[in-house]
Amino acid sequence: MINRIKSNLKKIRCFHTINNLEVILKNATDNNESYQTFLDDLLIRECEMRSQRKINFHLKQSKLPYIKTFEEFDFTYQHSVTKRQISEWQTFAWLDNRENKILMGPPGVGKTHLAISMVYAAIQNGYTATFYSMNNLIDDLLIANYQKKLSLFVKKLLKKDMLVIDEMGFLPLKPEHASLFFQLINEFYEYRSVILTSNKLFNEWGSTFGDQVIATAILDRLLHHAEPIIMAGDSYRMKDKMA
Ligand SMILES: Nc1ncnc2c1ncn2[C@@H]1O[C@H](COP(=O)(O)OP(=O)(O)O)[C@@H](O)[C@H]1O
Ligand SMILES: [Mg+2]
Repeated sequence: MINRIKSNLKKIRCFHTINNLEVILKNATDNNESYQTFLDDLLIRECEMRSQRKINFHLKQSKLPYIKTFEEFDFTYQHSVTKRQISEWQTFAWLDNRENKILMGPPGVGKTHLAISMVYAAIQNGYTATFYSMNNLIDDLLIANYQKKLSLFVKKLLKKDMLVIDEMGFLPLKPEHASLFFQLINEFYEYRSVILTSNKLFNEWGSTFGDQVIATAILDRLLHHAEPIIMAGDSYRMKDKMA
């Protein structure tokens, strides 16, 4: 009978129960559990495992370079964002409304930390995301364009609820790169959320894109429904050295 139970559980993809069936049955017998408690416990565990597996899958798909969380963020060091603001972000209303977040400031102030934390928290709450450094994103856009697969590549990114573009502005872009980037941002506009981090303030974007017209067109779309967050202060990397 055990084999039949396992084979039926496999058909309905209850892998956690299959893997732990003997223990689950023994515990239920030992504890003299009612049918109701037995079924309730079994379903709770199976559902928990499934949502954990889904979260792990989405985390892997997001291509985060590493994990950082809001809990690890030291608000006594960085005053440009408040705990209250972070709680507001974690309602994800901005994500439901397809709004953007633009984090700007010098190196080391925690822009990437917050962007990664946002992805991590969003995935825990059932959303999906892709994380890209600007350089890698431009590389992949160029490759897709060269292979005549640009719209396919963009469509794949649009399937996720948000796209993080980290470190925009470190390297100036060639005009054809800026034009590809504009096409991407245009597709995301009012359809999906973008989190962008940059060491450049808005008035310096022209030099990054090598063209004021395209910079304005990109800014126009990114900023229409967006919260700009200007982060000031000293680099966290220098914290202990300066103490
Ligand atoms: N306020 C903060 N609290 C805790 N860790 C921080 C804070 N700001 C920065 N860090 C840490 O310092 C390092 C550099 O931060 P990072 O987010 O990469 O900076 P940025 O992207 O602005 O250059 C990371 O390890 C990050 O986790
Ligand atoms: Mg960074």
